[in-house]
Amino acid sequence: MKKAVEDQQTHPLFRQVYEYIINRMERGEWNAHDKLPSIRLLAEEVKVHRLTVFKAYKQLKEDGKVYVRDKSGYYVSPGNMLSPDFEDNAIVSSYLLTNPLSDIQRVPAKYQFSQALIDPNLLPNLYLSDYVKKVFDLYPKVMGTYSTVQGDEELRETLSRHFKEHHRLQLSPEELLITSGAQQAINLIAKIVLGPMDTVLVERPTYSVAMDIFRREGARLVPIEITPEGYDLEEIEALMAKHKPRMFYMNPTHHNPTGYTVPVRQRKLLVELAERYRCLLVEDDPFRDMYFDEEPPPPFFAYDTEGWVIYISSFSKYVAPGLRICAVACRYPFMDRLITAKSLADNGTPLLNQKIFLHYYTSPRLQQHLVKLRIALQVHKEIMEEELAATGWEWKAPQGGLNLWVKLPEEISVEVLFRLCAQQSIAFVPGEILDPLGEMKSWIRLSYSFANEGQLREGMRLLRAAAGSLQS
Ligand SMILES: Cc1ncc(COP(=O)(O)O)c(C=O)c1O
Repeated sequence: MKKAVEDQQTHPLFRQVYEYIINRMERGEWNAHDKLPSIRLLAEEVKVHRLTVFKAYKQLKEDGKVYVRDKSGYYVSPGNMLSPDFEDNAIVSSYLLTNPLSDIQRVPAKYQFSQALIDPNLLPNLYLSDYVKKVFDLYPKVMGTYSTVQGDEELRETLSRHFKEHHRLQLSPEELLITSGAQQAINLIAKIVLGPMDTVLVERPTYSVAMDIFRREGARLVPIEITPEGYDLEEIEALMAKHKPRMFYMNPTHHNPTGYTVPVRQRKLLVELAERYRCLLVEDDPFRDMYFDEEPPPPFFAYDTEGWVIYISSFSKYVAPGLRICAVACRYPFMDRLITAKSLADNGTPLLNQKIFLHYYTSPRLQQHLVKLRIALQVHKEIMEEELAATGWEWKAPQGGLNLWVKLPEEISVEVLFRLCAQQSIAFVPGEILDPLGEMKSWIRLSYSFANEGQLREGMRLLRAAAGSLQS
């Protein structure tokens, strides 16, 4: 089995235990002069070796966070909470704060292959602006009104009907929450479900921002390989039995970055496993409508009768990215907690965005737009594949989505290629950052959706030439 993420030198296990203890002190569970659990008890609680806990306590002692009483154990040092040193650490100590994908995407590039977003020229922008006017006519007070925390009722009613008709989901409007993008949904779920040292199953590779969010909560990530055939369910069952994960975060339809879709027969079985091992399945589904030939199988949520699946359906990729509208489906009582988390985050997604989205989404024009968009994306994908054809690099043609997941020959250093490309204003995502194990050093993610056709051809030629200069 793969080496667990927590073994990585960047965040060794004893450091995570250290942060776990600090986190509990910070939350006021352990105050000055309180006795801390024995090494044995804590090792059992967080399921690590006693030596790891010993190492964490030793470091805490060296840092003045705890002190030792002979033959009695470890105690919380007084005054610690207010020391400037502690305050500095408090923000980062329990939470690993990184987002390498955002760092890459922040740098402007002429040949933009790092953004899994759609070229704004492919969206019906003029038509959208008509809708803005229409919404102000229909709801003159829209700018002066808060949305309810859960989201506009009219929109939730429409979406519950839509999910029933198109994806076979039996949902009431009360079982939907509107968030500002899928990213906010992942964030809220992580805040509700995860605590330090909790285990999360994630696909390998996966959407790196989700990993960053889980790591920030102090969770441990355990990878599940995703292949063109889906998952190895036996492996998943063994990992569920062993690690008792709180959740499995997955993007099983036109997966980012590989484009793979988990087959229908695995969907039902995995929901059964989730029920048996009490592991939430967090199904992130932003690319469902971006298929080329065949519609993908129904979401996992369609097979769930016990409330173990949370379904995240973001429309921010292809309907109107500027509106950032996403719907989260889940059952009660989880929905209550989600609504509270949303109220603490922003008290509701802007009503204006929800109303514009509602009227645009239900318009016949959207369906026409979707058909054209699918064709345009397929053309983009084929151009990129044509440009890659002569390289001998490996990839599996996706049936939908926005990316190609490409394996380069080992002699090409992706790190050096990335730097060379940056000098020529070409951006892509190195596979390493999408891998929970931080390996996959020969892989890259190339998004074909954002650059226009000319930029795709020219950029890919430059990228090929840069890679060629690194081969002997
Ligand atoms: C799998 C996945 N989930 C979520 C997101 C973020 O979606 P949103 O823009 O709705 O926040 C992305 C964006 O690339 C993604 O690829």
